Order: sequence, then C-alpha cells, then structure tokens
Amino acid sequence: MSTKLIQRGRRLRGGGALRRMVRETRVSKHALIYPVFVKDGNNIEEEISSMEGQYRYSVDRLGSCFDKLLESGVHKVLFFGLPESKDPEGRGAWKEDGVIQNALRWTGRHYPELYKITDICMCEYTSHGHCGILDAHNQVDNDKTLEYLARIALSHARAGADMLAPSDMMDGRTGVMRAGLDAEGYSGLPIMAYSAKYSSAFYGPFREAADSAPAFGDRKTYQMDFHNSKEALKETLLDIAEGADIVIVKPALAYLDIIHLISRAVQVPLAAYSVSGEYAMIKAAAKAGLIDEDAIIGETATSIWRAGAQILITYFARELARLIDSGRIG
Ligand code: PBG
Repeated sequence: MSTKLIQRGRRLRGGGALRRMVRETRVSKHALIYPVFVKDGNNIEEEISSMEGQYRYSVDRLGSCFDKLLESGVHKVLFFGLPESKDPEGRGAWKEDGVIQNALRWTGRHYPELYKITDICMCEYTSHGHCGILDAHNQVDNDKTLEYLARIALSHARAGADMLAPSDMMDGRTGVMRAGLDAEGYSGLPIMAYSAKYSSAFYGPFREAADSAPAFGDRKTYQMDFHNSKEALKETLLDIAEGADIVIVKPALAYLDIIHLISRAVQVPLAAYSVSGEYAMIKAAAKAGLIDEDAIIGETATSIWRAGAQILITYFARELARLIDSGRIG
C-alpha cells in the first residue's frame, strides 16, 4: 500500500541527469584563481614543505607551473613574491626589476593567455615581516604605509598586471591606490580588495611558504578579529566606496557565514580565498588515510560557492578543474 505524500524530495535526487539539472550551485573553471609563489633567482622549483604539492618558482621556471595550469583549463593566477633581500621599508616590493615585476613582464611575453593578478602587501618584503612601515614605537604606521602601497600598485601596473589585490588591511589603501592608478592613466585597471581579511591561524603554512611571519608581535592591529561579522560588512562597504571592483573574504571555510552575509549585502562580485591552512588540513588528513581527498576538495569548494562566493582563490584550482571536467562537481 502506498502512502499519499504530495511532496517527495527523493523524486529529484535520483539518476545523474535529473540530479544535475536541479542543482542550485554551478561551479566553473572560469571562476578559479590559482596562487603562485615566485622567488628571485634562477632555476628554482622547490616544494613548500608546509604545503605539499605547492612550489616556489623562479621566473625562468614559471612555465612548468603555467603549462600544467593551462592544460587543466585554469587561466588566472595570483602572484606572491619572494625577494632576494628584505629591508625595513620593503624596497623590493616596488623595484622596477623586483621579482613580481619580472614575473609580470615574463608572463606577459610568454603566456599572454594568462590573467595576472598580483597580491599587494609588504610583509614578504620587510625585514620585520609586518604588512607596513613601522613608526618609532615599532607599530605599523597606517598613513605612511599608504604611500608605499600606492607605489607598489603603480609598479605592478607598469609591469603589466591585469588586476591588483591589496591584502595589507591598512585603512584607506583602496582609495589611495585607485587615485594613484587613475592619475597615471590606469583608470581601467581593476582592484580586487581583500576587504574582510581576518587575523587567522589558517595562514600558518603560507607564512612559511613566503617567509613572511612577523619577527615580533602579530597582525592583530590591522587584520580583523574573528569574533566579528558586522565589521566585515563595514570594511567591505568602505572598500567599495573607495573603488574596489571585487571584494574578498579570507579565509573561506571557517567564514562561510561572512561570505553569505556579504554576498547578500553588496552589488560587486565576491571572491573567497581558501587559504594555506585549509589546503594543508585536507592534504594532511588525506595523507593519513582519514578522508577521500578529491571528494573533500569538491565538497568544501562547492560549499564556498553555495555560501555566495562567485570566485574562488584556491591552491586546489587544478584538482577542482579535474573534478569539474569529470562531472563530479558542477
Ligand atoms: C599577505 C598575505 C597573506 C596571505 C595572503 N596574503 C599572509 C598574511 O596575511 O599573513 C595568506 C594566504 C594563505 O594563507 O594562503 N599579507
């Protein structure tokens, strides 16, 4: 005897074609950005011990990274630079022949099909490892740092960046960069601001990768407190008012509520950055045989899109492209 149920959720959950037709979340390779660590020097392709499967490349070896990436169907990179030497002012960040500037010119020449985004921050270039210029009391001087950030932004623009991504969390940086770019004829160059960037233990593996851990203190005076969500909205709205074209929430997995909140509240595209700690946790658990790596990569990334992100910055970009191609997600 059959029970009379008007609604049966299971009717739509069967067979492949129907299940895929009714999906609420579509994932796409077009929405993936892959972070790339570029190191000063020659003939370098070294694995990052805290991030198995990720490498630091010298400019002359970038092709080995890009070939694999393009073959998977991912066309967008986010560059991080590892300079030869560091100093208190982070001079390497805006040098004409700095590591990022060289990488941009080389990539533009050899891989014109790649879309080149650059991370703009000072922590990889300063000897003290902070994201800005220090005052006499060893505190990051916000307003002084702004001049430097504008200078870095301009040098990336001149070297051929397609988009700039400020990650320093200084107040007013987006507006200062926008003004500086506009004044030099780069009014068409978009800014993707790390607007809601939390002070997070999930960046641990990155700081080893980029050798950018602060020599003293922490980043709590400029990165956000993870107890707060209204503050994320405030920061994001400020960045948009200052000219941000795309905004970022970072990290992603432990911040799905923030992604959801911001995606409902703003009219610009929203990106999420699934950071080094998220990558390392999945890698470690998979290596220990505790989880199915591909399944977890697909499920977690889809949850970030489902929460409201349109763009995903992730070290798993290639793996996700493969999962999309094989129909496991998307
Ligand atoms: C630079 C920057 C960091 C990350 C991206 N840009 C490190 C930090 O803020 O300490 C972290 C990325 C990751 O963990 O994958 N400020």
